[in-house]
Amino acid sequence: MEFIKREPGATRCYYWIPPKDLINADTNWGDIYAYDNSPGSYPTQKSEPLLHRVILSSSEPGDLVADFFCGSGTTCAVAEKLNRRWIGVDLGRYAIHTTRKRLLEIENSKSLTDEGKRYGKKARPFELLNLGRYERQFWKVKAFGVKDEKTALYEYLAFILKLYGAEPIAGSAQIHGKKGNALVYIGAVDAPVTIQEVTDALQDTKDMNMKELHVLGWEWEMGLNDAIQELAKQRGVRLKLRIIPMDAIDPQASGRGDVKFLSWLTLRPKLKSKEKL
Ligand SMILES: C[S@@+](CC[C@H](N)C(=O)[O-])C[C@H]1O[C@@H](n2cnc3c(N)ncnc32)[C@H](O)[C@@H]1O
Repeated sequence: MEFIKREPGATRCYYWIPPKDLINADTNWGDIYAYDNSPGSYPTQKSEPLLHRVILSSSEPGDLVADFFCGSGTTCAVAEKLNRRWIGVDLGRYAIHTTRKRLLEIENSKSLTDEGKRYGKKARPFELLNLGRYERQFWKVKAFGVKDEKTALYEYLAFILKLYGAEPIAGSAQIHGKKGNALVYIGAVDAPVTIQEVTDALQDTKDMNMKELHVLGWEWEMGLNDAIQELAKQRGVRLKLRIIPMDAIDPQASGRGDVKFLSWLTLRPKLKSKEKL
């Protein structure tokens, strides 16, 4: 109404300034949904149009956008599509996985507006950093000192073998110890266990005429379990993947011998009817 005017004594109002198709956004955004209501979304997941408007109106291409509670990664995905740099942080492992998957799937997404210049393109390379990894590196230096690389590695392996109730054995680069009838391989403190490492350890197990291999790791290359179990069967080796828990670096828990190595668990949903996941 503030743009309509009536001169004193006039019988009709007229536009003070002509009406326009575009108006300034006010603080009440009733034209877009705050939450994403598509199937499979999380209850508090923000909608892409909402983040699109926030990022577009408050930053320029190339700017750095951060969401320190990134959840399923809406902010990161929209920032990427709008050609912004971004940082996403979350303490939830599943939030991180969901965000990563979402970013890798960007090429399938559709444009919301013309400003989304990167829509239809792949996300640029990004790095996944893990606070646990830094904590473990810090622990390794603290626990085993700043000795030469070889001594520090030897002491690290001996420590993990002892926690696992295994004995060290020499003579193989890919096998570090033995527990009962099983051989044991231990992954590095600061890197995921790779498919290649497990493949080599399986080969050494076979060459040593042993039938069981336990691989202990802090982190794992994506898709390792599915890729490696078939190979283990072919080699005639029973393969167990065990996760080294963060308790291992807690002097109290490790001192009490109270550290449980966790089994790798794969869950596959079984649908009873045609219900959607
Ligand atoms: C409501 S969700 C985030 C929604 C997301 N920002 C969006 O726009 O869709 C909140 C997230 O904060 C994470 N979180 C809670 N406390 C945290 C903390 N102290 N540090 C990092 N992330 C945290 C939770 O794991 C959860 O994923």
